[in-house]
Amino acid sequence: MEYIKSQKYDLPKLQAKMMGPNPLKLQEEMLIKHKIPAGSLVCDLGSGQGLTSVMLVKDYGFTVYAADLWSDPEENRKFFDEMGLTHEQIIPVKADATNLPFEKEFFDEVVSTDSYNYWGRDPEYLDAKLLPFVKSGGYIYACVPGMKKDCHNNLPEELLLSWTPEQLIYLRDIHYWTAIVNKCK
Ligand SMILES: C[S@@+](CC[C@H](N)C(=O)[O-])C[C@H]1O[C@@H](n2cnc3c(N)ncnc32)[C@H](O)[C@@H]1O
Repeated sequence: MEYIKSQKYDLPKLQAKMMGPNPLKLQEEMLIKHKIPAGSLVCDLGSGQGLTSVMLVKDYGFTVYAADLWSDPEENRKFFDEMGLTHEQIIPVKADATNLPFEKEFFDEVVSTDSYNYWGRDPEYLDAKLLPFVKSGGYIYACVPGMKKDCHNNLPEELLLSWTPEQLIYLRDIHYWTAIVNKCK
């Protein structure tokens, strides 16, 4: 795939903000043929240092809440200012995805890139803690890094050279995620 949108951000200063696999490429691929109307109010959930949020505003025309637990919203605000975005276009918020500080049905849509695996492994999560904040008919787009096939019962030693079993529990296969989502009412 040619990452036409993402390649504009191939700058060392922006790459330094990446917290894992290139989130801009992940997001661009996830949003091929997306169904989110321009102008929608979107929550970038687990936005990290805001790269994906910037792309959602600049390349997709959404108004974005950049919601993240560990990042500093003031730092993110400075970054968004430097990127030429207004305070109406993008709003940084410190937020825990498991206890969101918004009104119910606040967002038109939610996008989450390389983050949902941190909190979304709770099968109750989607129904109880995320869907109430999305308007009826809205979409949730999430992409996570994962394994082609779960191997948690027999972790290969090559993986254990770089990861602990506790870290690897975040990386699951498509069958695992499909089962989690299918538990949602
Ligand atoms: C691997 S980083 C990805 C960040 C960003 N999406 C990116 O790709 O650059 C995972 C992010 O999940 C966030 N996170 C983890 N648990 C969270 C929670 N309960 N609520 C909100 N954000 C959370 C962390 O703060 C971190 O920024």
